[in-house]
Amino acid sequence: MIRALSLDTPQEAAAAAAILVAAFADRSPSPWPDLAAASREVHDALAPDHLCRGYFDSAEQLLGWVAGFPVYGGQVWELHPLAVHPHAQGRGIGRALVADFTQQVCRHGGTTVLLGADDENSSTSLGNVDLYPNVWEHIAHLQTRQRHPLSFYLKCGFAVVGVVPDANGWGKPDILLAKRIQMTRPADEFAERNS
Ligand SMILES: CC(C)(COP(=O)(O)OP(=O)(O)OC[C@H]1O[C@@H](n2cnc3c(N)ncnc32)[C@H](O)[C@@H]1OP(=O)(O)O)[C@@H](O)C(=O)NCCC(=O)NCCS
Repeated sequence: MIRALSLDTPQEAAAAAAILVAAFADRSPSPWPDLAAASREVHDALAPDHLCRGYFDSAEQLLGWVAGFPVYGGQVWELHPLAVHPHAQGRGIGRALVADFTQQVCRHGGTTVLLGADDENSSTSLGNVDLYPNVWEHIAHLQTRQRHPLSFYLKCGFAVVGVVPDANGWGKPDILLAKRIQMTRPADEFAERNS
C-alpha cells in the first residue's frame, strides 16, 4: 500500500531515514552516510509544499519512499529522493512509487516529472570523460557500464533531457531525466474548444 508520510508519525520518519542510509550505503560517497544526515533530508521532504509517499507492506512496515517538490511554478515537479530498502529491491516497489508519485503530480496539476541521476562512479558512458564541448554527442551515445538508476528510470518511461557536467566534481555528472504526465498542445485545445 502506498500512502502519504507525515511528520506526525516520528517512527515513520525514522524508518524513512534508515531506508535512505541503507539504500545509498554502496555509494561512494553516500549522500546520506548517517541517520542524522538522512533525518534532515526526511524532514525537508515532509515540508508542506512537498509530496512524500511511502510504500508499506501488509505489516505496515515501510519498505521504500519517494518525495518531490514543485518547480517552474508547479508545472514541473522534481522527484527527490527515491529509495527502496535493499532487502525489498527488485520487487516492483520502486516502479510503483514512481507511478504513484506521477499520479499525485497529475492531481496537483503538474505536467512533468523531472529528476537528476548522479553518476559519481563512471557507471555510465557520461562518467569520467570531458563532456565539453559536444555535450549532446555524448548524450546521444549514452550507455550504462554498471548497474545505475538510469536503466530503472528509462524502464519507468523517463527520457534523458540533459546532463549537468561535473555536477559532483570533474567527470561526475548529473543526468537529467523527465517524463511528461499530461499535456494538451495549444493547437489541440483550440481544436477541442471548436469541435
Ligand atoms: C533504484 C531503485 C529505487 C529501484 O527500486 P526497485 O524496487 O528495486 O525497482 P523495481 O523492482 O521497481 O524495478 C523496476 C525495473 O527496473 C530495473 N532496475 C531497478 N533498479 C535498477 C538499477 N539500479 N539498474 C538497472 N535496472 C534497475 C529492475 O530490474 C526492473 O526491471 P524489469 O521491469 O525489466 O524487471 C532502488 O534500487 C534503490 O532504492 N536504489 C538505491 C537508491 C537509488 O539509486 N535511488 C535513485 C537515485 S536517482
